[in-house]
Amino acid sequence: MLNKFFRKKKKMISNDLMERKQVAQSQQLPSHIAIIMDGNGRWAKKRTLPRVAGHHEGMKTVKKITKFANEVGINTLTLYAFSTENWKRPKLEVEFLMRLPEEFLGTYLPELMEQNVQVKMMGNIDSLPEYTKSSINKAVEQTANNDGLILNFAMNYGSRDEIVQAVQKIVYDVQEGKVSSNDITEELVSSHLMTKDLKEPDLLIRTSGEVRLSNFMLWQLAYTEFWFTETLWPDFDEECLMDAIEIYQKRNRRYGGLKGEEVN
Ligand code: FPP
Repeated sequence: MLNKFFRKKKKMISNDLMERKQVAQSQQLPSHIAIIMDGNGRWAKKRTLPRVAGHHEGMKTVKKITKFANEVGINTLTLYAFSTENWKRPKLEVEFLMRLPEEFLGTYLPELMEQNVQVKMMGNIDSLPEYTKSSINKAVEQTANNDGLILNFAMNYGSRDEIVQAVQKIVYDVQEGKVSSNDITEELVSSHLMTKDLKEPDLLIRTSGEVRLSNFMLWQLAYTEFWFTETLWPDFDEECLMDAIEIYQKRNRRYGGLKGEEVN
C-alpha cells in the first residue's frame, strides 16, 4: 500500500519534471553550464561518514546531471572536479579524488558513449598521476567523435594559472615577432585559454551555500549569470538543475547595454 503511494508520488514528480523540461526547451536554453560542485565533505559529515564518501556520492551526481543535461539539450557542462589549490588537502583525500575519474570513466564510459557525450578536460593534466591521466585521455579519445553534450572536467585547474600561461604564450609570440603588441585583443587572450574551443558559460551554478568563485574561470565568467543553492552537491538532482535553468531563463542579459524598451 505504502509502496504504491510512493511509486505514484515518484511518477507525479517525474511527470512534473518532464513538463518543466519541455517548457524550458521551448525557450532559450543556457548553452554552456559551469558548476562548482561543493559540499561533498559536509554531506558525508552529516551522515558521520568519511569525507571521501561524499566525493563518491558526488561522482554519482555527476553521472545523473550529465545524463539529464544532455537530455535537456545543454551543449556544454563544465564541472570543477579538482582545483590547483586542492593539493593542500590531506594526502588520502587527494589520492581518492585522483582515482575518481578512473572509477567514473571505467564504470560509465559505455553509457556516455550511448548518450553520445563528448568528454573533454581542462587543467594542468601533465602533473596528474599516470592512472588519472590515462583514464581521462582514453575517454577523451574514445568520445572525440560524439556530438552530444560536451562534458568538460576541470581537473587540476586554476584560473589565475591559466591566465598566467596565456600571458606567457602571448609574450613569447610577441618576442618571436609572430604577434605585434597592438594585436593583443580580448579575442587573442581568449584563444590562448584552455577553453579556446568552447563558448563562454551562460550559467554558473555553485552548490552548498558558498558564494565565491574559488579561482574558477575568472575570465570566462565575465558576463555569465550566477545561481547559488544551499543544496549540497551529492543531493543536487534533476529538479535542482531545472530550477537553475528556469531562473536563468527569467534573467535579463544586457551585457552592459540596454534592451529595446529600456532605451527611452
Ligand atoms: C568540493 O567539496 C568538492 C571537490 C573538491 C571535489 C569535487 C569532486 C566530485 C564531485 C567528484 C568528481 C567526479 C569525477 C568523475 C571527477 P568539499 O569537499 O570542499 O565539500 P565541503 O566544503 O563540504 O567540505
